[in-house]
Amino acid sequence: MLLTATRLICLRTIMTDATAADIAPDIAAAAAVIGAGGLVAMPTETVYGLAANACDDNAVARIFEAKGRPRFNPLIVHVAGLDMAAQYAEVTPLAEKLAAAFWPGALTLVLPRRPAQNADCLLSLLVSAGLDTVALRAPNHAVAQDLIAATGCPLAAPSANRSGTVSPTQAGHVRQSLGDAVEMILDGGPCSVGVESTIVKVDGDQAILLRPGGIARAEIEAVIGAPLADAPKSAKPEAPGMLTSHYAPAARLRLDASAPMDGEAFLGFGEIASDSPYALNLSPAGNLREAAANLFAHMRKLDALCAAHGLSGIAAAPIPAEGLGEAINDRLDRAAAPRSS
Ligand code: TXA
Ligand code: MG
Repeated sequence: MLLTATRLICLRTIMTDATAADIAPDIAAAAAVIGAGGLVAMPTETVYGLAANACDDNAVARIFEAKGRPRFNPLIVHVAGLDMAAQYAEVTPLAEKLAAAFWPGALTLVLPRRPAQNADCLLSLLVSAGLDTVALRAPNHAVAQDLIAATGCPLAAPSANRSGTVSPTQAGHVRQSLGDAVEMILDGGPCSVGVESTIVKVDGDQAILLRPGGIARAEIEAVIGAPLADAPKSAKPEAPGMLTSHYAPAARLRLDASAPMDGEAFLGFGEIASDSPYALNLSPAGNLREAAANLFAHMRKLDALCAAHGLSGIAAAPIPAEGLGEAINDRLDRAAAPRSS
């Protein structure tokens, strides 16, 4: 189904102290776009998402098209909370415990799809890309929550960027990456967390970490009182961002560097810094939360510097493995992996 020929890019700055009434017109317009089967880029606390009605097959198919995304990679469905999640998935006691601890927030739960769903809104099979599970998350961002409430439906939303490229943490990144493939962009300012959600598959009483992300492994283990199992390494991407090369800038990335070589840009962390004009620091204070929030925006800036000044690539300082460092290192490893195309 084709939408109207005119596509609207709407970039509005929402002040941080804006009240719900201030942003209501944008939300109402965005809900109308979603209701008509269109795509809206919405801010969440992790990264910007490219949202469509998760119960509209055509709309979900348009997400894959706009992102240039391989069909086998399923999408996260954003819900208001546990009640909405329970309409589409089997919420086991362990899943309920995790949702109670971390929702709304940067935790995605992969749960078995419910065979019998609310007949008014059957979840598209495409969001699961052939799996019998669905990934669900309640975002901790007022604009995303208001959009879910205004549409009254769950929103399928992968990161709002071309597949395989760096995720957007600002509205401008979405416009750069997707251009007019998206009808509307809701600007909620920079994302506070800055890396995607942690994805945990709940299988009976076992919790399996599919993707490290904005909630650290240790926080989740403290709630379940047991270590998280790791996802088996499989050739077929059941799991997240499983294309080895992902989240990638155009420039070559060299990891664990203590300093830039001649002609390299530098991504520093803490005291491992450089005074080169082509260097940025993820967190001069060595704070992993700040580093996660800056990661994708800094990678974009250094990528642009490489292109503008003919630099050979980006060297990145080592990042400690604890806390959010696990997610940061995961994204850096994927960004540095050899490209398949
Ligand atoms: O923070 C986030 O998670 C952001 C915001 C927008 O919510 N979303 C995001 O979506 O990162 P995306 O599509 O870029 O990554 C979702 C990952 C995919 O790599 C996919 O493989 C995995 O979630 N996924 C989705 N459904 C799954 C399922 N049923 N089983 C296993 N993995 C699944
Ligand atoms: Mg993504």
